[in-house]
Amino acid sequence: MGRVCYNGEQDSEESDGGLTDNILPEEALPICDYEGSTYRTDFWEGRGREYEDLVERIALHRLLPPAGTRLLDVGAGFGRLVDLYTGYDEVVLLVYSCSLLREARERLGDDPRYRYVAASFYHLPFVAGLVETAVMVRVLHHAQDVPSVLDEIARVVCARGHFVLEYANKRHVKAMLRYLLRRQDWSPFDWQPVEFVALNFDFHPAYVRLHLAQAGFAVQQECAVSAFRLPVLKRVVPPRVLAVLDGLLQRPLAPLKPTPSVFVHACRDGDAAVAPAGVFFRCPACHGTDLSRGNDALFCRGCARRWPIANGIYDFRWPRPNDQK
Ligand SMILES: C[S@@+](CC[C@H](N)C(=O)[O-])C[C@H]1O[C@@H](n2cnc3c(N)ncnc32)[C@H](O)[C@@H]1O
Ligand SMILES: [Zn+2]
Repeated sequence: MGRVCYNGEQDSEESDGGLTDNILPEEALPICDYEGSTYRTDFWEGRGREYEDLVERIALHRLLPPAGTRLLDVGAGFGRLVDLYTGYDEVVLLVYSCSLLREARERLGDDPRYRYVAASFYHLPFVAGLVETAVMVRVLHHAQDVPSVLDEIARVVCARGHFVLEYANKRHVKAMLRYLLRRQDWSPFDWQPVEFVALNFDFHPAYVRLHLAQAGFAVQQECAVSAFRLPVLKRVVPPRVLAVLDGLLQRPLAPLKPTPSVFVHACRDGDAAVAPAGVFFRCPACHGTDLSRGNDALFCRGCARRWPIANGIYDFRWPRPNDQK
């Protein structure tokens, strides 16, 4: 099993952990595969991250349109943030790991508002223009090819739809200090992503903004989040107090972004495709939309591939996990 690295929190000197040694075949990009990981119990519950959880909720609540038709959570994990999606008619939880989706389904039950989809953010199995709102929190840091991920999300978000993105910021105040004191060899001012542990990247805000724009997203509003992610502070000040202060600072600090985490609300321009009525999935392998439904799978008429459905989870992982080395 590779090293598990759940979030991009370089500052806490913890790497999270997908199974980073699951490298896909030559032409495919590596995926931080969380299959079988205990992300919830290893990273969140009783792990001293109540503050991070609270401040992320404050930012998401602020930036996310409160209601809408269909929301896609890309890299939803075990569904930590779903209680913020109550105003949406339909919620699609997408993760590469089936085990995390099973956990999400156990928590949420068989509520038909939720759809569970195992797939890669490089190959979303949906027709263009399908969703009104996409959310991606603590996930972009696992992407080696950010432009491809953002292009793929832009493809499935409808015209004038919304995208709320969280990313790990490399140009935060501690990284700048460390660099200036020569305790860090990479420059926080350089626009290129820094990979501090295999498949864990921190990004320069200008880099993210550039690629959002190239994908067709215009930034509307930002929040600088987790200003108090300092172990000493977190030990002495109750998380709820820190979270209130963080909430007060998120918008004033947004222009400077001195924090390790940044939330962005961007809007899709009017150039997006309109989803064909009644069509939801697209084959991630051949991009065909003619899929027929069997008892336990969808069959693609374009390439004859079979996409399993098990325990209410649509398995569109492509390339297939077995293709991984
Ligand atoms: C740190 S967790 C964040 C989970 C959730 N968004 C949250 O904030 O609690 C990272 C998530 O990204 C997912 N992930 C990583 N690489 C992925 C990929 N290529 N495609 C889809 N999901 C991916 C993992 O399965 C995991 O659920
Ligand atoms: Zn196909």
